[in-house]
Amino acid sequence: MNSDERDNPSPSTPDTNSDLAAETDAVILVGGKGTRLRPLTNSIPKPMLPVAGYPFLQHLLARIREAGMTHVVLGTSFKAEVFEEHFGDGSELGLEIEYVVEDSPLGTGGGIRNVLSHLRHDRAMIFNGDILGGTDLKAVLRTHVDNAADVSLHLLRVADPRAFGCVPTAEDGRVEAFLEKAEDPPTDQINAGCYVFQRDIIESIPENRVVSVERDVFPDLLVKGHRLYGHVDQAYWRDLGTPDDFVRGSSDLVRGIAPSPLLAGRNGEALVDESAAIAGGALLLGGTVIGRGAEIGAGARVDTSVVFDGVEIEAGATVERCVVAAGARIGARAHLRDAVVGEGAVVGARCELQGGARVWPGVALPDGGLRFSSDV
Ligand code: GTP
Repeated sequence: MNSDERDNPSPSTPDTNSDLAAETDAVILVGGKGTRLRPLTNSIPKPMLPVAGYPFLQHLLARIREAGMTHVVLGTSFKAEVFEEHFGDGSELGLEIEYVVEDSPLGTGGGIRNVLSHLRHDRAMIFNGDILGGTDLKAVLRTHVDNAADVSLHLLRVADPRAFGCVPTAEDGRVEAFLEKAEDPPTDQINAGCYVFQRDIIESIPENRVVSVERDVFPDLLVKGHRLYGHVDQAYWRDLGTPDDFVRGSSDLVRGIAPSPLLAGRNGEALVDESAAIAGGALLLGGTVIGRGAEIGAGARVDTSVVFDGVEIEAGATVERCVVAAGARIGARAHLRDAVVGEGAVVGARCELQGGARVWPGVALPDGGLRFSSDV
């Protein structure tokens, strides 16, 4: 099918893409522990960490709403209560949100099975709760319906697919295999973590058991001869699972490289909360975010970083590609690069942090207490 046909479905498929979305449940998996983002995820589940001024999940919810889906089921487990406390019934976002809790995490496949009784339609679009994406969700649904697929997967073409799950497809889009982190993959198409499932396929996943959708469900469906199709594109995509991807994803949102309906018309070099105090000569760039009540001292330079609420960055400090959690303090002339600073931690004046350093919440590094050079 060419793109013209996709935009103008033939009379035999009367649904518009918007109708398709309205008749699709959205399911978001948010039950993971987010271990790679510790210590940020010690207190806040990964999908609720602030990214470009909002809990990450809110950007995804806005994209789901924009595509025309209104019923959303969150599959929660780790810190389950945090989600409902924040989003309630979803009405403020124009959504109806339901929450389903796994007492112990059931994995991605088990999590999908666990929401079955809350689904209202024959079709559900499933999202990993940590993917920042720009794909056209309605087009994915259209591909699914036009192929009369049992399951469709959003597949992304990337330059180096080796670190991902690769999914080769036939010319007609039908999935041929699932290859986890192959050395020499036969395709540049990777599993982008967004799927459309027919309800009866969800029903066939074993109940109350730990099941991985990538490792168990998909290969099993393929062996059983089900109709699995790929929707391939090269849209913006980033998995926010590591500190490096987290800061880059936030920066891309702020600069408008990654789309979010929440930021429309507000893109720029930095997103600064109006209650933050920025001293003269401070430099904020690279899609940096400065949270509520934060204070940035004279001559400080904050580049491609996410600075949570109430953080203090003192005069002359530099902070590059870092996440600084709520209430932390970065002392004067400290230099931080590729670091994560936990809630309420203190990095003393003139300290140097680099290369993946993580300061645990509440820890205080004394002035000049950690350096990579002998200069004073
Ligand atoms: P890491 O521990 O850093 O790997 O992060 P994670 O626990 O979030 O795992 P991963 O990034 O592989 O998860 C992908 C998505 O699936 C995330 O949005 C998770 O919240 C979600 N997820 C992972 N495991 C489960 C689970 O057992 N149940 C549910 N409901 N969601 C899960």
